[in-house]
Amino acid sequence: MTTKSVGAIVTVLVLTGVALCRAADDEIDAATKARIAEFDKGPSTVDVSHYPKGIQGNYTVFRQKCSLCHTLSRPVNSDFVLPDEWSRYVKRMMHKPGSMISPADAKKIYAFLVYDASVRKQAALDAKLAPLSAEDKAAVAAKIKEVHDEYDQK
Ligand code: HEC
Repeated sequence: MTTKSVGAIVTVLVLTGVALCRAADDEIDAATKARIAEFDKGPSTVDVSHYPKGIQGNYTVFRQKCSLCHTLSRPVNSDFVLPDEWSRYVKRMMHKPGSMISPADAKKIYAFLVYDASVRKQAALDAKLAPLSAEDKAAVAAKIKEVHDEYDQK
């Protein structure tokens, strides 16, 4: 196959991916759209210089994989902060057509998002924890601790 025809195939695949993302965007309700539009206006980077090395590595995976269909501003400014919110969403994004996120990538991205929320979005996390039962709070804390235990001091 010539370089030119490979280029043409890649172009077609990328355009198909963009079209599918657009189609998916049209399926969400107006309130969600408005909320997401606000996230998209915010900063698109995170200062990870004080994060553990492993989390910095995962940030690179996150930047590559989660900026394919929308800007990184969307997840960076998202009000998702709980580990379960992130695991649900990473799975949801993984299953979108053309997402190209492997299970290994998903694990790294999840760890980044949970770690980042626990540091950078502490206030939002506390607000979401406040109404939960002691048992549910403990379950959330355990999932956050699991990520910190895996990455802290590394
Ligand atoms: C294949 C395209 C695609 C990829 C790749 C993708 N997204 Fe999305 N994302 C979308 C679409 C479409 C929406 C809006 C509809 C929806 O929520 O399903 C969205 C919405 C979002 C939202 C806003 C949801 C809300 O309701 O507040 C977040 C947060 C998000 N994505 C995070 C991520 C993360 C994290 C990754 C990387 C793991 C990622 N996205 C990768 C297509 C994608």
